[in-house]
Amino acid sequence: MCGIVGHVGDEQATPILLDGLRRLEYRGYDSAGLAVHARDGIEIVRAVGKLRNLEKALLQEGLPGKVGIGHTRWATHGRPSEVNAHPHVAGPVAVVHNGIIENHLELRSELEASGFTMSSDTDTEIIAHLVHRETKEGHDLATAIRRSLEHVEGAYAIAVLSESEPDRIVVAKNASPLVIGVSQGATYCASDIPALLPYTNQMVFMEDGELAVLEAEGFTLTKLDGTEVSRRPRSISWSPVMAEKDGYKHFMLKEIFEQPRALEDTLRGRLDRENADIATPEIGLSDEDAKSIRRVILLACGTSHHATIAGRYWIEELAKVPAITELASEFRGRDAVVGEGDLVIAVSQSGETIDTLMAAKEAKKRGAKVLAIANVNGSAIPRMSDASFYTHAGPEIGVASTKCFITQLANLLMFSIWLGRRRGAIDNAQAGELVEGLARIPQVIGERLRITHLTISDIVRDFADARDVLFLGRGLGYAMALEGALKLKEISYVHAEGYAAGEMKHGPIALLDARVPVIVLMPKDRHYERVSSNLQEARAREARIVGVTVAGDTQGQALCERFVEVAETSEALSPFVMVVPLQLYAYCVADHKGTDVDQPRNLAKTVTVE
Ligand code: AGP
Repeated sequence: MCGIVGHVGDEQATPILLDGLRRLEYRGYDSAGLAVHARDGIEIVRAVGKLRNLEKALLQEGLPGKVGIGHTRWATHGRPSEVNAHPHVAGPVAVVHNGIIENHLELRSELEASGFTMSSDTDTEIIAHLVHRETKEGHDLATAIRRSLEHVEGAYAIAVLSESEPDRIVVAKNASPLVIGVSQGATYCASDIPALLPYTNQMVFMEDGELAVLEAEGFTLTKLDGTEVSRRPRSISWSPVMAEKDGYKHFMLKEIFEQPRALEDTLRGRLDRENADIATPEIGLSDEDAKSIRRVILLACGTSHHATIAGRYWIEELAKVPAITELASEFRGRDAVVGEGDLVIAVSQSGETIDTLMAAKEAKKRGAKVLAIANVNGSAIPRMSDASFYTHAGPEIGVASTKCFITQLANLLMFSIWLGRRRGAIDNAQAGELVEGLARIPQVIGERLRITHLTISDIVRDFADARDVLFLGRGLGYAMALEGALKLKEISYVHAEGYAAGEMKHGPIALLDARVPVIVLMPKDRHYERVSSNLQEARAREARIVGVTVAGDTQGQALCERFVEVAETSEALSPFVMVVPLQLYAYCVADHKGTDVDQPRNLAKTVTVE
């Protein structure tokens, strides 16, 4: 989704804004622009396409000034074009905006009827005109924004400049994320933490319905009604280096290789090996809560949803608590039966995905307890939840989630063990094996990463041109099959389906012929024999089988045209090792095809609009 950056301080704004926008590129965008308070008023430069186009335009125009705002736009209302790119200007006011103004048509007609002329197709320009109208009435910028937002329905994070107040930026938010960064002599704003990491690690997360005035010496935070809000900055532990490629060709590849480290960080201090338990005071649920849960409902979108499918299997198996998983967008669209006794686990890398956020809010309103599993500290979903259990993957820049997915798996498995222990559903020995196994997982994955990458690069040479790919698995392998297919679709634009292997003969088998690779997940678990039979059925239709097999499984490997080996683990731990070759498969196909791996077309890292 769109990205916002703002700077007010002693330094020149343009290089900081461009650097911040570059760090937000992963969110996805199709045009970009800057507005800076220059000597003779606000100057604006905008360009369609990648940031290099904006940089070229800036070389011609130059943009000196110390106070400015920048934006990367992901088109929602109005096609990608220079005229629709932000900032939008009305009179002395310049605005950048993330989100969607739902009543923009109504506001547009009202403004046009009173003589305002629109120059773009966007909903954002409406805000610029509303604020302009209020400043014409003599209101200062903050008041003008407050009064304007009274008319606005929808999601927004905005940053606004006015020619009459050249030493400040005014920001406001509702539903779309916005953070304020504070350092000596400068104040910043951004839609996401990585944009500001080189400049400060002191950040304030704005809440819905708040407005802030940013000046070089600091900021004042208020509610939209003007009531003062006092909130101290939090220290963010992410470093700027974590958000750099570090010699890898793409962020995605770096993040796949970072998985052992991300898992170590996520498991650290949480595995109580002595007591075969999970030590998670931060889960924030008491032993009593654990005993009183009647049902767990796992809500998420995309890749995080796939993690919840594994989570559901673990919770039922290890804690013997009924668990369901549902796409957050579906859950919120219907009148779901949810209430007291339900524990909703909302899983989200960003902690800002609108559907997951709204679904969790709805469940909470109806009496469910909400536990967030998120990667971004202080993001919206943890903030509205009763308790938060963070993953510690560090910033994930590649749009295709990898290291965050694997750490979500870790948290969900830890939660299942924790719940199982408190409900007496697993004994010491079983819990001990799981805890010990989890403790070894980072090393187990790390040892095979390079060889897996080499093997998959080689396999991909034979399969990269396939137009359709099927991923098959059963049980936990089914969740990984879904994830493998999503990864491939996202970054290589190859049509792929993840299927429960047992379902193949209920439809997808009709697709199979000698041109279709079928990637079969074959952990040595209770489903092994049945998965082998499904593999044989696919082979009989001449499909080309690529097996993800455990090391030394010669019987399974003999059935495959090509195979990649993973370490043998217990069934519960198999998703951790199975998913890595699938991530690498998607990566290698995309790299072979030369697609934009880290910023695939049409996709955004954080989906904050409906
Ligand atoms: C993952 O590769 C995707 N980019 C996408 O499906 C993502 O998982 C989904 O948008 C949910 O995001 P979240 O985890 O930040 O809520």
